[in-house]
Amino acid sequence: MSDSPTTTPYDIVIIGTGHAGAQAAIALRQEGFDGTIAMIGEEAYPPYERPPLSKEYLAGEKAFERILIRPERFWEERAVTLRLAERIVAVDAEARCLTTQAGALVEYGTLIWAAGGHARRLSCDGHDLSGVHSVRNRADVDRLIAELPDVREVVVVGGGYIGLEAAAVLTKFGKAVTIVEAQDRVLARVAGEALSRFYEAEHRAHGVTIRLNESVACLEGERAISGVRLADGSVLPAQMAIVGIGIIPSVEPLIAAGAEGDNGVTVDAQGRTSLPHVFAIGDCAAHANAFADGAVIRLESVQNAHDQATVAARTIMGKEVANHAVPWFWSNQYDLKLQTVGLSAGHDRAILRGDPAGRSFSVVYLRGDRVIALDCVNAMRDFVQGKALVADGAVVPDEALADPERPLKTLWPLG
Ligand code: NAI
Repeated sequence: MSDSPTTTPYDIVIIGTGHAGAQAAIALRQEGFDGTIAMIGEEAYPPYERPPLSKEYLAGEKAFERILIRPERFWEERAVTLRLAERIVAVDAEARCLTTQAGALVEYGTLIWAAGGHARRLSCDGHDLSGVHSVRNRADVDRLIAELPDVREVVVVGGGYIGLEAAAVLTKFGKAVTIVEAQDRVLARVAGEALSRFYEAEHRAHGVTIRLNESVACLEGERAISGVRLADGSVLPAQMAIVGIGIIPSVEPLIAAGAEGDNGVTVDAQGRTSLPHVFAIGDCAAHANAFADGAVIRLESVQNAHDQATVAARTIMGKEVANHAVPWFWSNQYDLKLQTVGLSAGHDRAILRGDPAGRSFSVVYLRGDRVIALDCVNAMRDFVQGKALVADGAVVPDEALADPERPLKTLWPLG
């Protein structure tokens, strides 16, 4: 920004104004950190919640002010300097100095990298036509909402959380929605097959067309999109496409500075990267996760952002802590509230608990004898009580898990 000094030193600089960055600043002040803190973000807005973007914010049910993580004055009261609409393009870990896109230099004592990720885009012809949208930040959704009145048919590329949540909202608006998913089921990255089939049936019952095992050959149109051509040659007419095909972690400047990592930047259980005085947290931080059998993964969730931020802040304050939090997620589609605890990837058995036809049920995932995750649909009690089973890797007889009349808390710990 033109009025910022060319070189500014801060004790702690946080890159990113998402859940992870905001929580890092909040936790540092809660822990009594009294040095200077700057939070630098490329978006023009103070920290806000991202999950409502594909739900209540897109639906027009919540105004932007209601999704702010804290009221704007909070940051001023806590002496957290917000530097918005600034993008960091280089990190010099030896000099402990950052360079912004505009060429300003920012010195840090400790750096917390919480830059998250950006929406992966299609690379085929037509990917940059007008009417083609991502759903990652407020500006994306504002642009999308502004175009909606002129749209009848929408193609959603990707049947992940973004695609399904957007489809649910757009259907409510009376749009004709087709989901094009490359895999043989929706939600394949995050859930087991029974859950995928349940959600496919729900969307179809709401009038959504789902095309599985399909890929996009190109987007057609002159300046604005008019249709989506699939690999089999068929063309789906569309005045809008929403692309929800995952994220790419924003870590280039850190990796260029020598930090270990590849798909994300590698961190230890306290959030330390391989660079001195540099932490990384949230969607971009690759860590060995006990709930993924020790595999190094990135967790794209609010819970993980929050927990890693808190651990990093306490570590900076000299406390001995480590992040072993049980992962959890949620998704709202129509009147269905999906709550997930644990990570189901790598399960070898799934047990259905309750009847999907009753629209309240859970799926319990096991690896070997142990419970590793639960997906709970309109089943808050299972979600709350299932957490202990996942945390402990509980060993419970299948028939007990399959019986919805037996509350999970009576099954574990074994009396
Ligand atoms: P995702 O990775 O969850 O799903 C992407 C989907 O797109 C996958 O099903 C994949 O098979 C499919 N796909 C990939 N390339 C494709 C292609 N070329 N053509 C057709 N399908 C293709 O990513 P998504 O939904 O974009 O979400 C982005 C991030 O936002 C994730 O971290 C997600 O967890 C998060 N998010 C979380 C929500 C929640 O927890 N409720 C809600 C919305 C987003």
